[in-house]
Amino acid sequence: MAKLIYGLGTSHVPSIGVTIDNGKTQDPYWKPLFDGYKPARQWIDEHKPDVVIVVYNDHASSFSLELIPTFTIGVAPIFNPADEGYGPRQVPPAIGDPELAWHLAESLILNEFDMTIANKLDIDHGCTVPLSIAFDQPEQWPCKVIPLCVNVVQYPAPTAKRCFDLGRAIRKAVESYDKDITVAIFGTGGLSHQLQGERAGLINAEYDQTFMKNLSEDPETLKKTSHLELMRECGSEGIEMVMWLVMRGALGEEVKETFSFYHVPASNTGAGLVILEDKY
Ligand code: DHB
Ligand code: FE
Repeated sequence: MAKLIYGLGTSHVPSIGVTIDNGKTQDPYWKPLFDGYKPARQWIDEHKPDVVIVVYNDHASSFSLELIPTFTIGVAPIFNPADEGYGPRQVPPAIGDPELAWHLAESLILNEFDMTIANKLDIDHGCTVPLSIAFDQPEQWPCKVIPLCVNVVQYPAPTAKRCFDLGRAIRKAVESYDKDITVAIFGTGGLSHQLQGERAGLINAEYDQTFMKNLSEDPETLKKTSHLELMRECGSEGIEMVMWLVMRGALGEEVKETFSFYHVPASNTGAGLVILEDKY
């Protein structure tokens, strides 16, 4: 049977991707961030999954405001990087796993999560930047990728609890897949940031770090986080943090924090990276 081997939470700030693509990771501004990622990258390299489920939001790149699905799963054999206005990133396309993705879609829908199914989906920085953070610059990504999009662009976004419960259902779906493969799940976005309006530039490092710690220490409290709290404490784009709870929900009741790193600022954003594993 398939096995979920770890969860990873990470910001997906576009300029982190640009920095990697342009070979600027050792510039003084970026070096502390990439130095912080180093031990995690080594661990990730030693724990290669067959498939990674990347939970992220599309930033009006593939979707527009004409159609706003709350949860979407990509079942295509290949996902190309999206053109976000300056040409697609020069990173490999993500190779999908249609068989597992359809199994997940079926299991999730029959467990009452009404997924939208994407037979074609270009992946924007929300998905490609986490792949670069985890895997650097390989010719091909080292594992298959199943993109899972969450609407956090247009209110009403799904609640923290709904996202956590979706994670639970993903875990059940993975464990009922009859191939002996390993699966990792990435929850991406955030951390605190606001890109526009009076509070543009807002970062709340204390809240971000408590959030990261509570993924292992007190997930029950995180499940109760309201949209209003996220917006007040973490800025208007802080709502992306609900996607980390999909990842957390997919893990067991008790987890160990294998890796945690936080750095401010990355562009206008609090940048975090955690790796969590089941304790038992
Ligand atoms: C920015 C964009 C994002 O989607 C994000 O999650 C963080 C930062 C940005 O444009 O700086
Ligand atoms: Fe984002």
